[in-house]
Amino acid sequence: MLNPQLTKDGELLHLLTLEGLPAEVLTRILDTAAPFTEVGEREVKKLPLLRGKSVFNVFFENSTRTRTTFEIAAKRLSADVINLNVATSSTNKGETLLDTIDNLCAMGADMFVVRHASSGAPYLIAEHLQRTGRGHISVVNAGDGRHAHPTQGLLDMYTIRHYKKDFTQLTVAVVGDVLHSRVARSELAALTTLGVPEVRVIGPRTLLPKDVGRMGVRVFHDMKEGLRNVDVVMMLRLQNERMQGALLPSSQEYFKVWGLTPEKLARAKPDAIVMHPGPMNRGVEIDSAVADGGNAVILPQVTFGIAVRMAVLSMLARH
Ligand code: CP
Repeated sequence: MLNPQLTKDGELLHLLTLEGLPAEVLTRILDTAAPFTEVGEREVKKLPLLRGKSVFNVFFENSTRTRTTFEIAAKRLSADVINLNVATSSTNKGETLLDTIDNLCAMGADMFVVRHASSGAPYLIAEHLQRTGRGHISVVNAGDGRHAHPTQGLLDMYTIRHYKKDFTQLTVAVVGDVLHSRVARSELAALTTLGVPEVRVIGPRTLLPKDVGRMGVRVFHDMKEGLRNVDVVMMLRLQNERMQGALLPSSQEYFKVWGLTPEKLARAKPDAIVMHPGPMNRGVEIDSAVADGGNAVILPQVTFGIAVRMAVLSMLARH
């Protein structure tokens, strides 16, 4: 069966999830992003690759990094960018998601960048566009519920490749609230597809999916043990807004056991990089001494996110 995100010629049609995308496609996106790191510098201000296209940012959930870097990316490619203000949109008057999308299509949308609290919302939109003869309009998932955050996964892979070069020589640890994390799901899919030989998942039993052992990863419930000799530490935000019931005693207790402190980081390789998708909860999942320390590449992740999103938008514009 064809991957619904790819055309029959293997071009990117939508970007909904990293699960099921071949390594060749992931690598093509990272390779496409590389020259875009120069754009925005003084010499190269803008490229015309999306001239005449309208990119609609439709965010039904809060965002700082993703929404803003998609806007910067689209503008650097010369697109017209429209940010729907969901707080004042007609969804608050009972309009359905698909009616909102139909109306934005009537305004000339070429691409939708969608964040939604419900897992599957971007799929629903892509399927609706296909079914109603508007399959040329692309949908990018900017984070749906606890399901997927593909461009975050890609920018994380770009960051790892930038600092560590070869995925096939690495030990990578993903730490914390995997259960509620769409970022973790996209990271794990990309790491295993790109051939990282040892992917570790570290966290309390209450915050790991029951089937995590079947994801091609090693599971650790002891942070110091799990961090031993790793090349990359990928911290996750504690997703309090998605937790039902008390899964943790307190955030102070969580920090004591699962927070990344300089002492725990000392178990990793000395040149290990520390990543976090943001927004960070300092003093909960990460100590400020680590977040602002020499191993952290958290702000470069954000910067690389612009180039990676430019790559995705420019590849979508080609189909
Ligand atoms: N990493 C991430 O998705 O951040 P925002 O919620 O700020 O977009």
